[in-house]
Amino acid sequence: MERTTGHDRALTVLGMESSCDDTAAAVLRHVPGRPAEILANVVLGQAALHAPFGGVVPELAARAHAEKMDLAVEEALGTAGLPLSAVDLVAVTAGPGLIGGVLAGVMCAKGIAMGAGLPLVGVNHLAGHALTPRLTDGLGFPYLMLLVSGGHCQFLVAEGPDRFTRLGGTIDDAPGEAFDKTAKLLGLEQPGGPSVEREAAKGDPARFRFPRPLLDRPGCDLSFSGLKTALIRARDQAMAGKGGLTVGDRADLCAGFQAAVADVLAEKSRRALAACAERGLQLTGFAVAGGVAANQALRERLTAVAGGIPFLAPPLKLCTDNGAMIAWAGLERFRAGQADGMDLAARPRWPLDQRSPALLGSGKKGPKA
Ligand code: KG4
Ligand code: ZN
Repeated sequence: MERTTGHDRALTVLGMESSCDDTAAAVLRHVPGRPAEILANVVLGQAALHAPFGGVVPELAARAHAEKMDLAVEEALGTAGLPLSAVDLVAVTAGPGLIGGVLAGVMCAKGIAMGAGLPLVGVNHLAGHALTPRLTDGLGFPYLMLLVSGGHCQFLVAEGPDRFTRLGGTIDDAPGEAFDKTAKLLGLEQPGGPSVEREAAKGDPARFRFPRPLLDRPGCDLSFSGLKTALIRARDQAMAGKGGLTVGDRADLCAGFQAAVADVLAEKSRRALAACAERGLQLTGFAVAGGVAANQALRERLTAVAGGIPFLAPPLKLCTDNGAMIAWAGLERFRAGQADGMDLAARPRWPLDQRSPALLGSGKKGPKA
């Protein structure tokens, strides 16, 4: 394949992601005017490594990324059937996230870029998620994006590859974190989202009444930490006198919890769309991204809220952390004439909307929004 370096030419991009607990590498091919083609999307998860600790251990994650990133890249190139010499650009997550993991990815990317003489682009992980509907559906700007994952939760108006306005976000936990804690409290497998969703499908959402935090407050900010306390109380009540939970109790607790999260996200989404209308924005769509966007019950609720405008949810593999979204976001930066040098820094905190005041919310990766 002919090597191309011009910003407006066909480009093959290597994307690398290591900001949390997935070591990911992807190869993406983009011909201007055509949909991008994902030639490989390798994710080496660390779930088994962290399972004994009930959460991600940053130091273990960083070491595993450092050990596995070159293998992920090798596998991605192998799957794509391309040598490194066919790659035009190296894109890597440069933050926000667990700093040891981000550093491991950035160092590996610098080595590859320098060794192969390729341009390097540092990508904001959140931009990777937020730009995914452009990769999957070619969505034009402006659109409303709800980012919901284990480390973040925010409503963003995406106005350009580098232009995001935050309308609101979590003031404490991220929803994925709440799913993970719920699973832990109920003795279910990690990551908690898929296990809780599976149980919820068999349960009665009305048996336990969970709070709907911050619905009484105007605006689009969210809170999820209170749900954990409510869950502990409901679980202990259900267990009282029995010494344990029945299969039915567990399913009902999951259903009640998931319904509360879905209600809150649906109502806040309705408000975010109303805020866009008030600002006179002609939205091209309402999109979700991040691991929690894999939740089917939530997708159904949000589809209803979108009303007249298209609702976009990426395929599950592109909702959770992956290298393809980083390759795409890097490509967008590169096509806009941006690139980084060997001084590219790894950043633990890197808000997408630099103009809005910092949110208090943290997540499994620490404060960053
Ligand atoms: O985006 P992601 O892969 O990593 C972060 O950047 O955080 O999201 C992972 C999070 C985890 O907390 C996981 O429990 C949650 O997404 N998740 C789900 C589902 N699948 C993954 N939450 C709810 N329902 C799901 N089906
Ligand atoms: Zn993520």
